[in-house]
Amino acid sequence: MPAETLDARWAAVVGRLTHAGKTLLSMVLDHVGEDAYLRMAAAERMHHACVGGLRWHSIEVAEGALALASVFEGDGPPACLDNLVLGGLLHDIGKLREMQVDTVGIRRSVEGRSRYHTTLGSEIIAVACALAPDRLEAAGVSPTLIAHLQHVCESHHLQKDWGSPTAPQSREAMFIHLADQASAKWRQMTDDAATASADDGGWCGAADGRRSPVWIPSRALNLPPVGTSVRPVGTELEHRAETASRGAADEVPSATERGADAAARSVSVVVLRDHVPFHQQED
Ligand SMILES: [Fe+2]
Ligand SMILES: [Fe+2]
Repeated sequence: MPAETLDARWAAVVGRLTHAGKTLLSMVLDHVGEDAYLRMAAAERMHHACVGGLRWHSIEVAEGALALASVFEGDGPPACLDNLVLGGLLHDIGKLREMQVDTVGIRRSVEGRSRYHTTLGSEIIAVACALAPDRLEAAGVSPTLIAHLQHVCESHHLQKDWGSPTAPQSREAMFIHLADQASAKWRQMTDDAATASADDGGWCGAADGRRSPVWIPSRALNLPPVGTSVRPVGTELEHRAETASRGAADEVPSATERGADAAARSVSVVVLRDHVPFHQQED
């Protein structure tokens, strides 16, 4: 995924945030370090396992949650856009402590071998907010917004044996969980298909021998590659990106501006396979 495309998509989703939401996002990114966020992978090996993979995956989750809300939002209480966007962009923020990316590769940190990013992410948000209460108050950041963001971090893996101490208990948290699964599984299956030959029926052997073969029907049907106009949501986001680039997206965190630089500094890394994590769920 080109860095320029991710920068535009980042600007578009951040542009949906209120002033309070942008402030909270900036506070968390300031606390963990924007460069660290931009470099971090989303997983050791399952999906988006590359430098910058965390931001890529997080943008997809935010976009996916927004798309779900646009489809299912009806005549009931509206979905909270700040919750959806912040939840998407920060649901895996705990990976900044659970994992590390360095010249050796992508691997689990010492802390991450015994603690999970769901609870670590909630802790990061709490600490980031505790460090600057005046900034929170000045921006009008609601305690509910903070508490919900922590709930998203803790619940997005759905159940305890997948690493979540609690299940999603809000509609927004449920959408984050579903979008998280969609982003992770789509990328995993796409990567598997890209590295395997297909037989006549479009079946591909999984790149990772532990998983089942992947079925790509479009290969058997000889469908053309998906174009950029496939998603109405994407079209809307592109429009918003254009709006943002004209200056409407005030206070967009500098991660947006520095994304291209970080990508340029990115190095190829070797995914370490000598450590089997204590769990297999890496969404
Ligand atoms: Fe996760
Ligand atoms: Fe995730």
